[in-house]
Amino acid sequence: MKTPGRTKIAELLKSATGTEVTVKGWVRTKRGNKNVAFIALNDGSTIHTIQVVADMRLFTEEQLKPVTTGACLRVTGQLTASQGSGQPVEIQAKEIEIYGVSDETYPLQKKGHTLEFLREIAHLRPRTNTFGAVLRIRHAMAFAIHHYFNEKGFVYLHTPLITASDAEGAGAMFQVTTLDLQNPPRNDRKEIDYTQDFFGQQTCLTVSGQLEGELGAMALGEVYTFGPTFRAENSNTPRHLAEFWMIEPEMAFYDIHDNMNLAEDFIKYLVRYALEHCADDLKFLNDMYDKDLIERLQGVVQTGFVRLTYTEGIAILEQSGQRFEFPVHWGVDLQSEHERYLVETHFKKPVILTDYPKEIKAFYMKQNADGKTVRAMDVLFPKIGEIIGGSQREENREKLLARIAETGMDTENLWWYLDTRRFGTAEHSGFGLGFERLLLFVTGMANIRDVIPFPRTPKNAAF
Ligand code: 4AD
Ligand code: MG
Repeated sequence: MKTPGRTKIAELLKSATGTEVTVKGWVRTKRGNKNVAFIALNDGSTIHTIQVVADMRLFTEEQLKPVTTGACLRVTGQLTASQGSGQPVEIQAKEIEIYGVSDETYPLQKKGHTLEFLREIAHLRPRTNTFGAVLRIRHAMAFAIHHYFNEKGFVYLHTPLITASDAEGAGAMFQVTTLDLQNPPRNDRKEIDYTQDFFGQQTCLTVSGQLEGELGAMALGEVYTFGPTFRAENSNTPRHLAEFWMIEPEMAFYDIHDNMNLAEDFIKYLVRYALEHCADDLKFLNDMYDKDLIERLQGVVQTGFVRLTYTEGIAILEQSGQRFEFPVHWGVDLQSEHERYLVETHFKKPVILTDYPKEIKAFYMKQNADGKTVRAMDVLFPKIGEIIGGSQREENREKLLARIAETGMDTENLWWYLDTRRFGTAEHSGFGLGFERLLLFVTGMANIRDVIPFPRTPKNAAF
């Protein structure tokens, strides 16, 4: 379909020359002399700019004065083969209309701003090459995710964002309330009276759609969620956001091996999709930020992921002779330095670790016969560490109740979840892929704040 009133630059670069075209976009640079002006225009449809050539016999200097970096224009003219190098075609301008001027205070005058600086102008950074590339790749990955599951017959299940249960049992939740915080209602015991709150009980933003995903799987067979999730953990790292997007497939009749197979196939599909559909943007990021990016992506598509147990992983780390910041022994939660040692130094390929100690994993994971471990699986990636967390679920009601009691969780809000184990329970499994962790891997960006348009992190909710 043709875009009304204009042709996108991505299209123009593939078009035959000799026709009159209209483009609309933002000026990146203008240079030239008394006879001719060259305007590089970008419209976000591609990393490439189109060169607009303005013959000064057709335009006055006064007309071209407002054509400055950041201004928005319409240009109509002849598409011709380009004289200069760099691109196949250019536009010989006949008309230039200024939609919006931009003055010298426009912060993106020159190239080469630091990513830190660009975070402070997140409202404008989509206009840079880097963020154009990242945001187009982000879109392509979101599309590919839906495509993948649709092809496999999974149902996209919309799980609630406001919830009264803590899916991960980790307690790092943002509260949602309409109570007057200055003067909340109190009960006889002087506690805040949530029966008077909007939902009649205490509610929070969800940390995961999994529990509702399980309800869906126990009816529809194979489902997935894809939505924002929220964690109020005060983690100021390059890999944590307070608001991030997660993809959570949940499948009836899958054991942990089926779950691992799906996770590996899914990630490989997404990386392959990026290589095939985002070549220009990946090449830009490869050249600008990470010379091994494309090679690393190709490597992941081609290699089988290593699968081993947590216990085996700990043994490798203990025997590594490495001095880790966080010492390793059986029972510890793995830190990113441990995960990256296994992936980057020891195996040199992605690793799926299974069967973690139950104490460091969520209540819903299937308990192994050893009484110590649960059927968890974490997929660990080069540069990232944990990219996927998942498990086979405990489908036995008594065992699940016993585990909930052990963790001291409150079952009152979970009666509906427990009902799946009462009525027609079955083996099932699922996992969560952190969308921004995937994007860190695919784009080669080093900081998670640079793969989401408007990051939410501790002490930062600007834009
Ligand atoms: O390992 P997590 O906490 O697992 C769950 O939430 C399960 N309910 C998933 C499931 O089995 N359905 O989170 C899953 C993934 C992590 O592996 C990581 O990629 C990402 O979500 N993640 C974060 N990404 C960005 N910022 C954070 N604070 C994240 N916390 C987790
Ligand atoms: Mg995890």
